[in-house]
Amino acid sequence: MNQMIGGWKPGFDPFYGAPVVLIVLADKNWSNRVYDGSLVMGNLMLAAHSLGIGSCWIHRAKEAFETDEGMDILKQLGITEEYEGIGHCVPGYPDGPIPQAAPRKENHIFYIQ
Ligand SMILES: Cc1cc2nc3c(=O)[nH]c(=O)nc-3n(C[C@H](O)[C@H](O)[C@H](O)COP(=O)(O)O)c2cc1C
Repeated sequence: MNQMIGGWKPGFDPFYGAPVVLIVLADKNWSNRVYDGSLVMGNLMLAAHSLGIGSCWIHRAKEAFETDEGMDILKQLGITEEYEGIGHCVPGYPDGPIPQAAPRKENHIFYIQ
């Protein structure tokens, strides 16, 4: 489904073969849902990193769970209220050393005297 929404050719796996996908959903009736859900995504990724596990945010959760198939998956899980897909977090063991943080960019913080 994700591959089709992304417009990739069949055979491309947007989840890079991850055996587990953590899906963050948020209540459609809550106006802060995208911010709250994004914070959950960030915390998941930081938690994974703290355990030496890599992770990647995989997009298109909103579109996926707006399809009939997506809504059906949620229904089967007992999620019947109105939930919006925020993101998929795919964890995995890094194939190589964990990269160092990129150097900070200059002048991205503005200080007010
Ligand atoms: C909102 C959001 C959506 C993303 N969606 C995808 C995605 O669908 N597929 C993917 O490979 N990476 C996705 N990423 C990861 C980014 O492509 C990128 O690897 C990540 O933001 C790290 O950036 P950096 O390499 O500049 O540090 C997403 C990141 C964010 C913040």
